[in-house]
Amino acid sequence: MIILGIETSCDETAAAVVQDGTNILSNVVASSVGMHVKTGGIIPENAARQQIKSIIPVINNALVDSLQSTVDRSLKVIDLIDAVAVTIGPGLIGSLLVGVETAKTLSYLWKKPIIPVNHLIAHIYANFLTTDSLIKQSSVNSNQLPKFPILALVVSGGHTDLVRMKEHGKIEWLGGTRDDAAGEAFDKCARLLGLPYPGGPAISREAEKHLSHLQVISYKSLKLFPRPLSGNNSFDFSFSGLKTSVYNYLKSQKSKVDRLKLSAEIQEAIIDSLVIKSTSAIKKFKPKSFVLAGGVASNIRLREKLDRVVGNMKFCEFHVAPTPLCTDNAAPVASCAFFNYHPIDWKEISANPQLTIAEGNL
Ligand code: KG4
Ligand code: ZN
Repeated sequence: MIILGIETSCDETAAAVVQDGTNILSNVVASSVGMHVKTGGIIPENAARQQIKSIIPVINNALVDSLQSTVDRSLKVIDLIDAVAVTIGPGLIGSLLVGVETAKTLSYLWKKPIIPVNHLIAHIYANFLTTDSLIKQSSVNSNQLPKFPILALVVSGGHTDLVRMKEHGKIEWLGGTRDDAAGEAFDKCARLLGLPYPGGPAISREAEKHLSHLQVISYKSLKLFPRPLSGNNSFDFSFSGLKTSVYNYLKSQKSKVDRLKLSAEIQEAIIDSLVIKSTSAIKKFKPKSFVLAGGVASNIRLREKLDRVVGNMKFCEFHVAPTPLCTDNAAPVASCAFFNYHPIDWKEISANPQLTIAEGNL
């Protein structure tokens, strides 16, 4: 089955064509991030306007690319695509509507089934995709699909959730952030340091520079900021205190701060919180696979640390997708729709900006 996936939940306009939930035939992303760098963050109306401009060319390019990857070059789009999948939430309402209304129109015109997809669950499905060898090299365990039961940490700009998946479509929420998301913490702290949006990659770059300057890398010395809730039994996270700590620290400094070192401190504080809770969840639930997903999963230090921690527990495999599949794109949307195939009438589909991961696969 070949599914066209559409993703417009935030500032990326994305379309992808995926065969049988795993094989990417095309994957096109247009990002309006350049515009948001100027404003230091996303202005929802601007993001939505950009979505409107990009959606048709992006879908068109994804369809053209996918046709080129087929053996029969005379094939028409209408013959190639079996179904349309679209992110319905969570996300920014203006952005979501662009994808949802476009998907509904295509479903109606082409007379193809349409599958609503939860953006957060789609992130997990980045780990079910296979792609060319070049990208494969940069991923962990990309040659094997995750095995159930899966424990997944979904870390994005707006969400931080730890979930258990017994099988496709059976999701149990274990915990999540009580305030800011992990990506949001990176973004807000970066702003305090005068680094550009998005803050995650910016902080990560500065932290790498700091650590590469050291003769002996001593992560243990990076203890400036707290790791909230680390001693408590829940699988909850809290990141809003970090930005206050960073703000107070910056205010208390008389001389110029070492931005590289501070970035390493911030990165380590966020990552430690994620690793501490993930480790205790793995010990408790003993999953066969641990899956790291969402934009923050691009973070090299987080990938390395979790790979090591999970590797020490012999019963569990670590999975993380190549970076371009971790950040927002439409291939995981198509994959999620294939493995959780619940088409509904196009008239029934509507955007839901507040959708949670606990609401399952719809
Ligand atoms: O999943 P995503 O692409 O979009 C949302 O659904 O929110 O995640 C975006 C978030 C941003 O907060 C961004 O700063 C963060 O992912 N991010 C990173 C890195 N790359 C992106 N955070 C830490 N390190 C990175 N390398
Ligand atoms: Zn996302």
